[in-house]
Parts: sequence; C-alpha cells; structure tokens
Amino acid sequence: MKKLLVSLIAFIIVLSGCSSGDSDQVTIGVLMPTQSAQRWIQDGEYVTELLEEKGYAVELQYAEDNPQTQVSQIENMITKGVDLLIVAPVDGGALTVPLSQAASANIPVISYDRLLTNTDAVSYYVTFDNYGVGVLQANYLVEKLDLENSKDSLNLEVFAGSPDDNNAQFFYNGAMDTLKPYIESGALTVPSGQTDFETVATLRWDAATAQTRMDNIITSNYSDKKVDVVLSPYDPITLGVISSLKSAGYSSSDLPTTTGQDADVSSVKSIIAGEQTMTIFKDTRLLAEATVDVVEKVLNGEEPVVNNTTDYDNGNFVVPTITIEPKAVDQDNYKETLIDSGYYTAEELGV
Ligand code: BGC
Repeated sequence: MKKLLVSLIAFIIVLSGCSSGDSDQVTIGVLMPTQSAQRWIQDGEYVTELLEEKGYAVELQYAEDNPQTQVSQIENMITKGVDLLIVAPVDGGALTVPLSQAASANIPVISYDRLLTNTDAVSYYVTFDNYGVGVLQANYLVEKLDLENSKDSLNLEVFAGSPDDNNAQFFYNGAMDTLKPYIESGALTVPSGQTDFETVATLRWDAATAQTRMDNIITSNYSDKKVDVVLSPYDPITLGVISSLKSAGYSSSDLPTTTGQDADVSSVKSIIAGEQTMTIFKDTRLLAEATVDVVEKVLNGEEPVVNNTTDYDNGNFVVPTITIEPKAVDQDNYKETLIDSGYYTAEELGV
C-alpha cells in the first residue's frame, strides 16, 4: 500500500511537471524605454504578440525613462534566466554593466530601434534608417517651401532629440546636412542663432522642455518677426512647440511649417486639422517582425541577413544592423499610408 502511494505521488509529480509544459519554454525579455510615448506602447504590444505566436514566453518591462530602472530590470531578467534580451534603451550608454552580465550568462542581446553603445554585448541592431528620417523631414521642408527658388528668407528654429539617444544625432545630421545649403544661401535664417546639436537637443525627448525652450526663443527673438519653419524631430515636441506658438498669439492658420516623427495619433489629428504639417511614419509592425525574425535566427544559431554594416558604430564596434525605410506623411497621403495599411482605423483618427 505504502509502495503504491509512493508511486502514485511520483506519478503525480511527473504529470504535473509535464502538464505545465513551460519548463522548456524559451523566454524573451523585452525592455522598452517608456509608456509615456504612444509608439513604445505599440512596439511592446507588437513584439509581444509576434513572439507569443511563435511560442515564446515574454517578459515585457518599461523603464519610464529612468536609465537606472532599466539597469535593474536587465539584472532581474538575467537572474530569472531569460534566454534572450531585446532592449530599446533609455540611455544607450548606461547599460554596459548589466549587458556584460548578460554576455557572461550567454544571453544574446538585440538592440531595438535605439543603439546600445559602449558595449560588446550586442549581437544585432534592428532599426529604421535614422539618418534617412532627418533627410525626409528636411527634404519635405525644401519642397514644401520651395527653398530652391525662394526669394525671401524664412525664419527657422531647430529642435533635436535626447543627447543620450544615438538616434537623435542621426536625425539631426540627416536634417541639418540637407538644410545647410539653404541656411548658407540665406533662404533660411535662424533668428535665435541656436543650431548646434548640444544647444537644440531635448533631454529625454521631453515635450514640456521643448515648449519652454520655444517660449524663450519667441520672447527673445521674435518681437518683430514670425516663426516660419520649425524642424522638430518628434511628434510630442512638435505639439509642445505649437502650444508655445499659440500662447504667443499664433492662430491655427498662421502656424509655421513643422515636421515631426512617429505618426502619433495626436499629431496625425493635428495634421488633419491643418496645424502640424508633416510627420515621419515608422511602421513598428515591420520593426517587430524584423526583430522576431532575428530572435529566431539567433536562437537557432543561424545568421540573420543584415543590410547595414557601416553606419552604427557603438563605440566598441560596428553593430550589424537591419534598417527599415521610414516614410513622410502629411494631409495628402495619411489616408493611404496610415488607414489603408491598417495601422490606424479612421475612427482612431476621428475621420
Ligand atoms: C525613436 C523615435 C522616437 C524617439 C522618442 C527614438 O529613439 O527612434 O521614433 O520618436 O526615440 O521616443
């Protein structure tokens, strides 16, 4: 009887082990920078959905723009024994220590949209053509304002992203390299004189910081002139700049020509309403797909196909990269680009 009981208990233990089925499940740790921006929420959702479809377990965490939180999150994930990490850093250079711990634990790391810098512990980088984002923004301005032929000089103000995000410098360089000839020819003037990256950068992409900077620029430089053009790298910064201009008395119809990035719902609505002029659409569904493809290849010991082996030097080495093409969106093409592609419904955009 006792023997029977022991075998029965052993049988139940084995069964319960099997029925969980989870013991062999591969777990992917996904670290995103913040939930305060719409795009990162979408990124988290798409990546999780695709990984789960492929049978992976997912640990998704947001660091709410705090680099130290992200350090702890990576350490915890290593302790829990995740099999691979996908990281979109808050501060690209702040994760050297936890990433070297991941390397020691043989956990591969994929850099997601933002480059992980000052580390050897990154296998691949999956992102958009970041320099291309800036070029698209600037070329849009060149064409829209006909800068090739303009006789008057237009007043431009320049904003950039967060200095601890490697992308910010790429966006800025792409845009400023393209606008430079027009600044030199006088087709564009920058009344504030603020054009170098350090001065125009916006820590943590914070819209309120940009709004305050715009308030100060208007007060100090625009008592007798109007802002005609604003180069903004990011939709919430653009909306912050627009709020500042409105507080200074600009009406919807005399706002400057503005750029943006991410095709956030609030900004697309603003474009439809004729306030913000354009944005850059980065299809995060494609980014998620490309990333999950890299995850599978890395875990199967295969080599993903990369398309950029020159541009993304992270301070330690040039990280093999997959880039996806961004697209300019304005009033003329938002329907086909954002609604027909199924990215948003007409209801979400209020049309
Ligand atoms: C991303 C942009 C985003 C910005 C702010 C960048 O790293 O590439 O798409 O607008 O961060 O979140």
